[in-house]
Amino acid sequence: MTNLPNLEFTAELAIEMQPYYEKVRRVIPEIEWPMHAPYIKAINDIKKEKNAVLLVHNYQTPEIYHCVADFVGDSLALSKEAARTDADIIVQCGVHFMAETSKILNPDKIVLSPDLNAGCSLAESITADDVRSLKTKYPGIPVVTYVNTSAEVKAESDICCTSGNARRVIESLGVNKVIFIPDKYLAQNIANETDIEIITWDTGSCEVHELFTPNDLIEARENEDDLKIIAHPECPPDVIKEADFSGSTANMISWVTNNKPKKVMMVTECSMSDNIAAENPEVEFVRPCNLCPHMKKITLPKILDNLIYLNNEVKIDPIIAKKAFNAVDRMIKLDIS
Ligand code: 13P
Ligand code: SF4
Repeated sequence: MTNLPNLEFTAELAIEMQPYYEKVRRVIPEIEWPMHAPYIKAINDIKKEKNAVLLVHNYQTPEIYHCVADFVGDSLALSKEAARTDADIIVQCGVHFMAETSKILNPDKIVLSPDLNAGCSLAESITADDVRSLKTKYPGIPVVTYVNTSAEVKAESDICCTSGNARRVIESLGVNKVIFIPDKYLAQNIANETDIEIITWDTGSCEVHELFTPNDLIEARENEDDLKIIAHPECPPDVIKEADFSGSTANMISWVTNNKPKKVMMVTECSMSDNIAAENPEVEFVRPCNLCPHMKKITLPKILDNLIYLNNEVKIDPIIAKKAFNAVDRMIKLDIS
């Protein structure tokens, strides 16, 4: 049993943790640091002791993203990292479908989630029964499934995709029609870029990205000179039309670091702007703030509990996991980013 760590913010700890504070000082007020620093120290110590790896999604808050992560990335990068890690324990700092994907790829490892109730409106929009009905309605048409789904839904699918590779996954199949589930907006956005016919699932959408409207982008451009706007493809197509660039969370980050715009608005979950602003002081961020309530369930105290007690282990029925593995692995083997 791991000794319980001391969570006091002492003068000695303040000095030891100063290099971490330097990474986040632009986005975390000094007054909040004593609350985070003892947890960051304890998490980093225990994860080494237990050979655990922390896979952290781009929407996590800055103290998690910059101070305890071993790998940060979009869903695709995290699933690739999960496939190659030699850690004994994976702590998935993201929502439940991300932790399930890690478990699907690592059936023999311990995969933990700081909060098993961190869901996703897309994953909740479709069941395995729904997919079976679609397959009956459209026999022989391959099912391409966004990773934002449960293991049961993946198990009924031919191949998975992420927002970073969706078009290329669809085009790799050599067919002229696919069923794409469950994100109707991502499906419509891809349909605007490809000749392949896409059958959509009309009740799937992201509760965060569907809130943006074209008017939000038009007004921001009117109010801010020289503004570049980049948007996640889970936004409705009329929003994407108003943006200068659209891509996965990782591709949005690369766009900012490569182009270094004077002023940028990231039309996505708002912790990502904080994470990138911390590293790009020369870029001004205009922040529409839509938070994902599920991603925000992950906190430093819950991560620490995970590591101490190995609680909240992700479990999947082995038969479902094996079938879901085929769909995820087929995507990873395409090796497209
Ligand atoms: P990314 O794969 O682009 O990180 O997207 C995941 C997600 O849930 C966005 O809302
Ligand atoms: Fe799901 Fe949307 Fe949250 Fe991403 S931002 S995890 S798609 S609810």
